[in-house]
Amino acid sequence: MQTGKFISFEGTDGAGKTSVLNAVAKRLTPQLQQKLLITREPGGDFISEQIREVILNRQNTTMDIRTEALLYAASRRQHLVSTILPALADDKLVLCDRYVDSSIAYQGAGRKIGETKVADINLFATDGVLPFKTIYFDIPVKVGLKRIAAHRQEQIDRLDVETIDFYERVHAAYDRLALADSNRYIIIDATQPLKLVVEATMNQLKLVAPEYFTEEEI
Ligand code: TMP
Repeated sequence: MQTGKFISFEGTDGAGKTSVLNAVAKRLTPQLQQKLLITREPGGDFISEQIREVILNRQNTTMDIRTEALLYAASRRQHLVSTILPALADDKLVLCDRYVDSSIAYQGAGRKIGETKVADINLFATDGVLPFKTIYFDIPVKVGLKRIAAHRQEQIDRLDVETIDFYERVHAAYDRLALADSNRYIIIDATQPLKLVVEATMNQLKLVAPEYFTEEEI
């Protein structure tokens, strides 16, 4: 039985969600310690991290788009079963950097496989396990890509060399997902300075997962 709380972090590249997660981790770890799990996709456990290396390896230029979608789904399945579900069973607050919505947006819309098709293979992979809430870091595509160019030149992976059109399709798909599942989606304006985005994220976490905070903090 799941008793913990599962919250995913989503956004297009350059939205800063990983920096926000790092800051949130710093703030929450002293009080929550073992009750907090911060993890990421693709990856998050030994097998899934190996799949991540295959997917993001820039030398794999011949990778078929459905192969890529299946690898993401396989990595997600492994991560869910070996890391997320046990943590939830242990009452933990699980903050996951990307989950199913990334595949629907990137593979379904970005790669044009089709959002429903990608949602279907992920339904098989996850058995329908969705996050309790999804925090979406919203940023215009061009602003996000500019940030990447300025800060992460040495880390640019295979996906970062795709066209702006690709990212516009991804962004539009996130808008559709947020609209279709407005109870799950929390949208944060990621164009604000990092400090404010972290504050907004902490405030949302206090609202949706108050059991992990003391009364004074709320
Ligand atoms: P990251 O920037 O959050 O580390 O993610 C790495 C890349 O992987 C990013 O460009 C988005 C991409 N991605 C997908 O295309 N589909 C997925 O299902 C996931 C989890 C990530």
